[in-house]
Amino acid sequence: MILKTTGVCRDFHSGGETVHALQDVSIGVKPGTLTMLRGRSGSGKTTLLNILGALDYPSCGEVYFGKERIDTLPEKKRDTLRRTKIGFIFQSVALIANMSAYENVEFGLRLSGYPAAQRRARAEECLELIGLGKRKGHRAQELSGGEQQRVAIARAMAHNPSMIFADEPTAELDTQMGLIVVRLFREMVEKQGLTILMTTHDPNMIELADHVYELHDGVIISER
Ligand SMILES: Nc1ncnc2c1ncn2[C@@H]1O[C@H](COP(=O)(O)OP(=O)(O)OP(=O)(O)O)[C@@H](O)[C@H]1O
Ligand SMILES: [Mg+2]
Repeated sequence: MILKTTGVCRDFHSGGETVHALQDVSIGVKPGTLTMLRGRSGSGKTTLLNILGALDYPSCGEVYFGKERIDTLPEKKRDTLRRTKIGFIFQSVALIANMSAYENVEFGLRLSGYPAAQRRARAEECLELIGLGKRKGHRAQELSGGEQQRVAIARAMAHNPSMIFADEPTAELDTQMGLIVVRLFREMVEKQGLTILMTTHDPNMIELADHVYELHDGVIISER
């Protein structure tokens, strides 16, 4: 397993109440797979993804990346892990609006400490790969929703992470564009051996997964 949790829970305290967003979640993600996390709105998908991607801490339980336990690592080491081994595609795209597609990807490479001399070529290569070579000079705000989503994918994969987390990457897209994105994920998994974990509630996308976990009210209720 490239990623594993045992007995993870996450409580949120707000307005004098406690929300049990995750309860006793034990899952594993095999390397080189496209794994999906499904469940209704509010079931805990984003919460779990953020914990797995070292953006948040569980309230109880353990999280492993490879053999390393990451939920108890000092923040500095978690930061290095995120910048070097992980790529993140957020539920809202989060590109820098007045930077071009190319600049968005190049900027991500800069943050990850990618060698300066190779940044240009790598950013262009990733934009080609997702079919945006011709649009690389367009500012993010001038791109369609689907194009922006693809720039976010290029940015998430450019620094050669071993694992990509994608939170509802197809939610803003029509079914056809959504399928193009997920097929691209399949290709990245099959050709480059990447591991991708994405959340979705779209049955059309779930068909393309190697492995699916279903969350309901913070509990894993099924696996296939
Ligand atoms: N920071 C927070 N403070 C308080 N409650 C939170 C916080 N973040 C999430 N929650 C609650 O935890 C539960 C799970 O939220 P989460 O965002 O993980 O759901 P989700 O499955 O990603 O939903 P969606 O499909 O709408 O994105 C929800 O009930 C939500 O209100
Ligand atoms: Mg969510």
